[in-house]
Amino acid sequence: MNPTSTNATYQNHLAVLTHRYEDAMTHFGLDAIVLASGEKTYYFQDDHTHPFHAYSGAQQWLPFSLGADTFIVLRSGQKPTLVWPIRDDFWHAPNPVTNGDWQSDWQLVSARKNDFWFQDLPARTAWLGPTLTQGDRLPATVPCEGLKAYVDFDKAVKTEFEQQAMRRASLRGAKGHLAAKEAFLAGGSELEIHLAFLNASQQTAAQEPYPGIVGLNEHAAVLHYEHKSIGKSLTSRTLLIDAGASEHGYASDITRTFVRQDDEFSALLNDLDAMEQSLCRHATSGVAFRDLHQETLVGIATLLHNHKICALSVEEQLAKRIPQVFFPHGLGHLLGLQIHDVGGHQIDKAGTLSPPTEEAPFLRLTRTLEENMVITIEPGLYFIPMLIDKMQANIAKHGCDMAKIQQFMPYGGIRIEDNVIVKNQQPDNLTRAAFDEIR
Ligand code: GLY
Ligand code: MN
Ligand code: MN
Repeated sequence: MNPTSTNATYQNHLAVLTHRYEDAMTHFGLDAIVLASGEKTYYFQDDHTHPFHAYSGAQQWLPFSLGADTFIVLRSGQKPTLVWPIRDDFWHAPNPVTNGDWQSDWQLVSARKNDFWFQDLPARTAWLGPTLTQGDRLPATVPCEGLKAYVDFDKAVKTEFEQQAMRRASLRGAKGHLAAKEAFLAGGSELEIHLAFLNASQQTAAQEPYPGIVGLNEHAAVLHYEHKSIGKSLTSRTLLIDAGASEHGYASDITRTFVRQDDEFSALLNDLDAMEQSLCRHATSGVAFRDLHQETLVGIATLLHNHKICALSVEEQLAKRIPQVFFPHGLGHLLGLQIHDVGGHQIDKAGTLSPPTEEAPFLRLTRTLEENMVITIEPGLYFIPMLIDKMQANIAKHGCDMAKIQQFMPYGGIRIEDNVIVKNQQPDNLTRAAFDEIR
């Protein structure tokens, strides 16, 4: 158990999960559910494995990072069982069962590779998790269409235990961002900036919840820029860093854009930052996330107009989809054990989908916000050569000042991303709170 989370908080979390899964078992007429963490996978024709992330549906049950080959068995009215792998392996460090109060709420079973730990499972047992290669040593389970969607829907609303984990992940992420900013101002390369982030957020690259995005100058215009150049740049203009940390799987997903000097680009950055904070304040229960995305498009059009990038009115820009040229992604997504958490397009437990429209094709969240959902709010404004070329080719009378755009292109772009707990009145901005705490 981590130091700031009491066992009572964890027990409440377990009670919520137990209720959700018992309800699912009743709904589908099941006697048991097995959740599998997953197994390690290998690079092609190699003996090294990919970094391992446990299946989030299994990870959700435990207050520490779950390793591979671990199973959870849920039976109605019984304590959950954790099946822990024991390996005869002198090549790798053993994975001991984590000590702590959490154990009092579990039945623990150790299993070697060939143990048939599942022999007494009832006939109507369903499986949730990745399909494993060791099929002959796994329980026979019944197919249960709809079970995954049924349990995924509720994952959007986070328990206090989950919120606390995300608060800690935000704090570590924010520490990393401040160190990254210092490395940028000192003229560091993208690699050096990333290493500064990792060090301050206390993680290896393999432990990051997603590969950190560290883009200097024009690279800030690549939404998921993956490379880490080693060239130092004492004259770098912009740093866009999108990177987070994770606490037993629960992630933060933070983006900041830093600049060196006050100029027209920094004025644009300040206005986008103000707009982002306003959007965060609007993330209250009952708000349709699609409407917040639409509000963002209006906000981007207003910025383009006010900063003399586009001469058209807000209405004219919206009609011609000019804001989407500069803000081509969605406003945000559910956040949890997965960065783009499950169920963002799901509007009920039955799995009915509400897909994004052509207006906002990349919107990952189309639900109406509910109290204690955790979401990201991440508007951006980028100068992406490909999209600007397309605009010039395809949108007649676009009204954009191409000389001004050329002036901004060397800065790449801006994204500001916060993680917010939706509340009925005043949303809880985890990211701003984390930066406030360490400044
Ligand atoms: N870091 C990926 C995202 O913000 O969605
Ligand atoms: Mn995000
Ligand atoms: Mn992000």
